[in-house]
Parts: sequence; structure tokens; C-alpha cells
Amino acid sequence: MLQSYIKQILSLYNYVDAIVMVDINGIINYSDNFRTNIYNLYSEEVIGKYICDIYPELNENNSSLLRVLKSGKAILNETQHLVNYKHIEIDAVNSTFPLKSGDKIIGAVEVSAYIDPEKQRKNITLQLKERDKDKSKYYNIITNDANMVSIKKKILKISKSDSPILIYGHTGTGKEMIAQSIHKNSTRSSKPFISQNCAAIPSTLLESILFGTLKGSYTGAENRKGLFETADGGSLFLDEINSMEISMQAKLLKAIENQEIRRVGSTESIKVNVRIISAVNESPLKSIAENKLREDLFYRIGVIQVNLPDLKDRKNDIKFLSDHFIKQYNNKMGKSIIGLDDSVKKIFKSYSWPGNIRELKNIIESAFNLTYNHILTIEDLPDYIFSVKSDSHEIPDVIMSEKSLPELIEDYEKSIIEYAIENTVNITEASKMLKISRQALNYKLSKYNIQK
Ligand SMILES: Nc1ncnc2c1ncn2[C@@H]1O[C@H](COP(=O)(O)OP(=O)(O)OP(=O)(O)O)[C@@H](O)[C@H]1O
Ligand SMILES: [Mg+2]
Repeated sequence: MLQSYIKQILSLYNYVDAIVMVDINGIINYSDNFRTNIYNLYSEEVIGKYICDIYPELNENNSSLLRVLKSGKAILNETQHLVNYKHIEIDAVNSTFPLKSGDKIIGAVEVSAYIDPEKQRKNITLQLKERDKDKSKYYNIITNDANMVSIKKKILKISKSDSPILIYGHTGTGKEMIAQSIHKNSTRSSKPFISQNCAAIPSTLLESILFGTLKGSYTGAENRKGLFETADGGSLFLDEINSMEISMQAKLLKAIENQEIRRVGSTESIKVNVRIISAVNESPLKSIAENKLREDLFYRIGVIQVNLPDLKDRKNDIKFLSDHFIKQYNNKMGKSIIGLDDSVKKIFKSYSWPGNIRELKNIIESAFNLTYNHILTIEDLPDYIFSVKSDSHEIPDVIMSEKSLPELIEDYEKSIIEYAIENTVNITEASKMLKISRQALNYKLSKYNIQK
């Protein structure tokens, strides 16, 4: 979760030398420095420490992170002279953002670009990346499930209108793919499809990404288009809108209703013609009840709703999509796998697929890399699939498999033990996880020839 958030923040900028995140008490809980050659500070030595212990010259008044924790307001492109506890000095340009859960400040994150002492880079600012106009690839929606077939028909119909669409589906159910497909089937298809994940992006940053900035609106700000302007005439896909800060949701609602935006720092309104497609990964009504989604915004963006079922509820699709991905990877990797063996089919049917279609696709890709056969077998599947509670209470049909019941039970036992060994540091801990004695575990490790 934290890792993907950091990755997302970093992906927004052209160039970042360091990123640090603190909790509400100023304790560093994440740090990464990409230029340790010029500023020798490693994450291991700073994580868990108070920010002012790492930078002894900082205090509540001059630390940008502590100021942001107090005010809840972002600081953009501020130059700071930093001296760390090893007496190494650097000048850096920082942008610092509050992290909020609802309206509560829970921490702050800072991205920095160093002013290189040797190269004397001048006028340095943290610049947001220009967005590619259209990265969308048109994927075919593959399905053999009655419910999905009617969703496909619905998509063809709704593509033709300009009404906003809200897609609701759990992770990996195909939300982005559906959004792209709506765009490609619409009259806007020759114009851009722009996608932005809104999860946990501090609202000051998200506002400048969506609406753009006016030169001089804050230190280092340039005249810059936001995504509404970039997507003009096309579609803007706002993913995980239920994770957007509530204050930002109000600004978004205004922009959608008036079909105009104002760049940050500007008083001038700019007309935009954008179709909004949004997505949520939890029930919108639940998000509204928990005050994560504004009700008025929901009614505005949810004029048309598409609810994507989980893969476990599309039983026909598991086999159908497996065959599709097998064909796809055969082409891509130059292999000639003919399908899944019966025991794999059984497992796929009863597995709960928490990661939905993305998980199925990844499992098939990984099996392609492992297999020596022309058919994918249990040995080619990742171990965790056996340790996750299965969705169905069906008794495995041993008749379908070439293996006997004791053999299948042994396979299952082996995979659980391998999981425990891989996820603990020693045998004592693994035996505790499995709730058996060390001796019993040692015996099973040699029986199954599992290396610690
Ligand atoms: N019906 C389908 N046919 C073929 N491929 C599909 C289908 N649905 C999803 N996929 C593939 O599964 C993967 C996940 O889909 P997508 O990224 O659209 O899901 P998502 O709901 O946006 O996931 P997340 O919530 O994690 O962002 C993609 O590689 C996509 O191409
Ligand atoms: Mg997505």
C-alpha cells in the first residue's frame, strides 16, 4: 500500500532526488534517497527516527514537514539548506504535502530535488510530468458470462452519449479496460483518453494535476495545462475517486457542473468539454455512508453506473479467460501450451480470486515461465493459491484428477509447509505458525524434501 503510494507520487514528477514521509508525530516512516553519492543518507538509518534528530538544525518553525503537519497546507517548491546529523550539507528544493484521512492530518510527504553543488543547477523546480495525450490500448473485453455480455451491450449503448459514467468493481475486475472501451466506442475516440488515479494524492497536488497552474501562483509554478485541458474533447478517467480528499471532491464537482476549470492561482475560467468516467473499488453507497464520497458528487458522476462482478461470480469466465490468456502468452512467448490440466481447472473453479482477472492473468504468465510441459499443472501454480481459503465448500472431485486422495492431501500439506517456511525466519517460528512441534515439522521437511 505504502510502496504503491510512493511509486505513484514519484511517477508524477520529471525528476526527484529524495522522498521522505513522516507520521503525525514527525517520525520518519518512509525515506528514499536516489543520490546517496552527493547526500549520504540511507533509509535504514533514518526510518523510525524523529525528523529533527536527523536534521539537528530543524525545529517546528523551520522544518517544512513539521509546518505542513501543523497547518495542513502544502508548501510548493521551497528552497531549504539542510544539514544532517553527519554534518553533510545540501541545498534542496522541496514540495511538501499533508496526508489526510478524511479531514484528519495523519502525516506529511516531501519530495526534493537537490541543487547539485558541483553543477550549480540553478532555478531548479520540481516539475510535474507532461501527460501523454493518449496511451490507451483497445483491449477486447473477453467474456462468456451472461451478466458480462449484457454489460458489454450496455457499454456500446452508453458510449454514444455524453453522460458521466461510474464504474464500480473490485481490484482487477477490468475497470480501466471498460473505461477505455467506452472511450474507443464513443464519438470522442479521436480525442485523448486520459487516466488519473486519485488514490491518496494530496489535494494540492491533485488540484494542480487536474486543473493546471498559472505562472507565479506559487514558487516555481509554470503556466501549465491540467488534465481537464489536456483531455479536452475526449474522456477523463478518474480512478479510485472514493480516495480523493473531500475538499478536492467539492472542487471537482464544481468543475464538472460548470464545465469549466480555473488553473491554480488564476481567476480566469476556462471552458472544457470532457466526458468524465470515474471508478470506485468499494460500494459507492458505503463510501458515502463513511463520508469518503460526497453524495452530491456521486449523483453527478454516477448518472450511468456499471457494476463489474468479481471473477469468482463469473464461473464461466474462469476457463474462458484462461484459454484467452494462454493463447495470448503462446503468441507472446512463442510457446505452444494447450491448456490447463484437470486439477488446475478444479482449483481455479473453487479459488476465491481476490485479485480477479489481473490475478488470473498473472498466475498464467507465471505458470508459463515455470512449466516444462504442454499443459499447465499444479506444480506451475504459485504456492499461495493453496493457502488462501477457498471460496467454495465443494468437496474436491478426486475422480477428475490423476492423483489419489492421499496424494492430493500431501500436495496440499506440502504447499502449506512451504508457505510457512518462506514466510518465517526459522523453523521454530514456522512450527509456531503451523501449530505443530519443531520435531514434527523437521520430519515433514525431510519427507517433502523442503530446504530451509
Ligand atoms: N474481460 C477481460 N478480457 C480480457 N482481459 C481483461 C478483461 N478484464 C480485465 N482484463 C485484464 O485484466 C487486467 C486488469 O484489468 P484493469 O486494469 O482494467 O482492472 P481494474 O479494475 O482497473 O484494476 P485496479 O482496480 O486494480 O486498478 C488488465 O491486464 C486487463 O487487460
Ligand atoms: Mg485500474
